[in-house]
Amino acid sequence: MSELPTRSPGWSLPQAAYTDAGVFAADLDRVFAEHWLFAGHTAELDAPGRYLTVDVGRDRVIVVRGEGGALHAHHDVCAHRGSRVAPEQRGQVKAFVCPYHQWVYALDGSLRSARLMGECFATSAYRLAPVAVRETAGLVFVCLADEPPDFEPFAAALEPRLGPHGLADARIAVRENYRVAANWKTLVENNRECYHCAGSHPEFSLSNFDVGINGDVRTNPRYERALADARAHWTAQGLPGEDVNFPDGAPYRVARLPLRDGFLSETLDGRPLAPPMGTLSDPDVGSLRVISLPNLWAHANADYAVTTRLTPVDAGTTDVELCFLVARDAVVDEDALAAVWRATSEQDWELCEKNYAGIASRGYRPGPLSPVVEASVELFLDWYSTALGTVPAAA
Ligand code: FES
Ligand code: FE
Repeated sequence: MSELPTRSPGWSLPQAAYTDAGVFAADLDRVFAEHWLFAGHTAELDAPGRYLTVDVGRDRVIVVRGEGGALHAHHDVCAHRGSRVAPEQRGQVKAFVCPYHQWVYALDGSLRSARLMGECFATSAYRLAPVAVRETAGLVFVCLADEPPDFEPFAAALEPRLGPHGLADARIAVRENYRVAANWKTLVENNRECYHCAGSHPEFSLSNFDVGINGDVRTNPRYERALADARAHWTAQGLPGEDVNFPDGAPYRVARLPLRDGFLSETLDGRPLAPPMGTLSDPDVGSLRVISLPNLWAHANADYAVTTRLTPVDAGTTDVELCFLVARDAVVDEDALAAVWRATSEQDWELCEKNYAGIASRGYRPGPLSPVVEASVELFLDWYSTALGTVPAAA
């Protein structure tokens, strides 16, 4: 790759943006390493020593709950000769013991002991290198940058809207992992439009209108009426009436949308499968949509929430983790709980793989985005191009 490809506004990206290993490396350096990444849930880091790992290209971050309740994040790199120290993808430890020569690290990353290093060795001079970490409304984020972007505006948007859903005190009832043969941007683009919903998502379409994504200019009087009625109902419950949609080009959206008539949750029959989560008492709170670029989207109904985490593997491969959360003591039918979003996600991965196969082929040329239903794809590609530092070519 000689230079990063530029795009024309209103068009999908040049082929190299999806397939080129050099562009993928730039994506990791300029997009993933420079922004807050969704790592996991407060609910899975609910006791000292509980940890999870996040891969960002060649980097691996350990996120661990400390003895005093604080959250720590470290590069998973031993300060001796660089071995990985986390024993598994997730688990619980009293300390991290390097498997190579048994240096022992406390949960806060400080080096506790190092055998056979001589009398002059100062353990205090070594530690696991720290990584920025934050948690808000039950979601945990890390940032590899030396100077991370300001996290506070996102937390201020998320806390009053997602906080009442009680994700921090929830449990993960179902976890699904997928490896998708597509570039990570193909998955985000797919998530950013509902052009494909009516044709591909029968389960999702039972409960959801296919409008309501910002940038979708279609009007639907039934949707507008449902939104107005629902907003009055939600604000009466003390939930914020205003959505937050990528303010000033920031990479996040937090928006509460109504479900179709008769649906209290994104389930097959509209009935909740579990009691309302957190401090919610009314099951009628619609569905709160959260997206945080580049690697999270989530839907929070009153009875359950589902999060989707993307992990790019290489230019043509993306790992996806789906987690379904319910109130900690809720007894649920796990298949029913996952029915809508397991089906919808798997439909999307199939669409993305077909999309990517075409993109990667000799016949691909950038195609025109719909100004009616794909303005959010355009918004994502604008954000991506800015993050990458490429200037779009003239339209
Ligand atoms: Fe970790 Fe040697 S590399 S103790
Ligand atoms: Fe979809």
